[in-house]
Amino acid sequence: MSMNEVVQSSAPNGAGYKSFTIGAFTFGRDEFFARIAWPTGTHVLSVDVFLRALQRDVAWDFFYGTVNFDSVIGTVNHYGTVDLFAGRYNESYRKAELDYVENFESGHLRETFKAMLEDWTNSEFDPFASPAETGKPFGEKSGSNTSAITRRRVAANRMVGVPGDEQIRTDASHPINRMFADVSQDEPLLEAEPGFENEVAAFNLFAYLSRSDVTWNPSVVSVCKESLYCPTTEEYILPVIHGNDRIEWFVQLSDEIRWEVEDGDTGKKRAAVTMKAGDVAAMPGDIRHQGYSPKRSMLLVWENGSPDLPRLIAAGQAPIYPVDF
Ligand code: PHB
Ligand code: FE
Repeated sequence: MSMNEVVQSSAPNGAGYKSFTIGAFTFGRDEFFARIAWPTGTHVLSVDVFLRALQRDVAWDFFYGTVNFDSVIGTVNHYGTVDLFAGRYNESYRKAELDYVENFESGHLRETFKAMLEDWTNSEFDPFASPAETGKPFGEKSGSNTSAITRRRVAANRMVGVPGDEQIRTDASHPINRMFADVSQDEPLLEAEPGFENEVAAFNLFAYLSRSDVTWNPSVVSVCKESLYCPTTEEYILPVIHGNDRIEWFVQLSDEIRWEVEDGDTGKKRAAVTMKAGDVAAMPGDIRHQGYSPKRSMLLVWENGSPDLPRLIAAGQAPIYPVDF
């Protein structure tokens, strides 16, 4: 760890929580709220919203492009460094010149966020879980939930089930979720030509997803060059407003999600998209979006993981719309 990766934190406050400082930002929590201050302003948000977003930003290592915790606070990934911003993608804050951005080495911000997540998450609360399946995050500090917040995202090298990628979770340690009791658990019958037994594989993706114990946390189940299949199970609200730095595709595998789509830079409303089972949508590269899933649903997020895309888009050499009508 280099000097500037040292996590700066204060002694616990009256509610038992530490405060954290990184650059000119400070983060504090009390019984209900996360409070953030920067040289030109302050912000307050409900601590459940804050912790669910913080959990994703940490687990996804700042993800593709922008992770807005809400309409004010968030991060932009530059893949090695990361911007922490306040009001930068909010037209009113920018007009009032209250916005602020600071760039950090990714490791420095990651370690600070991890320490904050650890200190601020009480034993009852699991930020990855649906609110219907976890306790409350509120109140004075009581215990911790390290095993929940350090869960690792499943990420296949080639495909779930092939040699080296045997993470398929159909065992007793991953019970079928209450909302997916009707999902068939049959596995496909595979008859490989002799000599190809290690080269071909198949699995029941619906059965796999029916056993996911987390929400809004895509796992990479197959990788073909830069094509990443990242299915996930969704319930309640996507805890971040994601502004991608490339086009991404959604395939609604079951049930329904409503997407609120805003301009990525200003936050102005652009569209509301209701996706039902079987619907396919491409999200343009210049928007941000947040999903609402009224019942636990299965969603396939399809990403082009090419590290060249942000540069190609900035240079006008790759499109931000998948199709020109
Ligand atoms: C997204 O922002 O595209 C996203 C993130 C997490 C999910 C689904 C979609 O679970
Ligand atoms: Fe997205």
